[in-house]
Amino acid sequence: MERDYENWAALLFCMRVVRHNPRLAATALNRQHGDTSCLLHSVAVAFYSARLARALGLRVRMSALVRGALLHDYFLYDWHEKDASHRLHGFHHPRTALNNAGRDYVLTPVEQDIILKHMFPLTLQPPRYLESLLVCLVDKGCSLYETAVRRNAYPSLRPLMPSRLCRP
Ligand SMILES: [Fe+2]
Ligand SMILES: [Fe+2]
Repeated sequence: MERDYENWAALLFCMRVVRHNPRLAATALNRQHGDTSCLLHSVAVAFYSARLARALGLRVRMSALVRGALLHDYFLYDWHEKDASHRLHGFHHPRTALNNAGRDYVLTPVEQDIILKHMFPLTLQPPRYLESLLVCLVDKGCSLYETAVRRNAYPSLRPLMPSRLCRP
């Protein structure tokens, strides 16, 4: 019961951040992997990072963990579209996401590190904080899972979110 409450609290926090940022909500229109929207991917990374931290009994800055995870892919374009500016997306999008997030939010150092380091080891600088390491690991797990299942990923998470936010 307590765990259910914590899961709901993490998800409600995600939805509150999304509701207050139309740019973040609009990332529901962009595809990430398979038929998972960029927004659902980010919510899943935030949700499962929070759950993993709780499951392992880790002392984390939960608000920074969830906010950083929600903004880790805040690059605000569809990387599947052929465009010269999207080349080497894997290497460049953490910096683009950090620049966009820094424009729209006052970010803590932990949140900045989460966004900038989440593609490690593709980008060379390792995560500095426990929260960044968690998001870096969970992002990889979520990305592999979304790529493997292709359709209707996160069947337990989708019904808890407005359907328009789940699929591009
Ligand atoms: Fe990313
Ligand atoms: Fe990601």
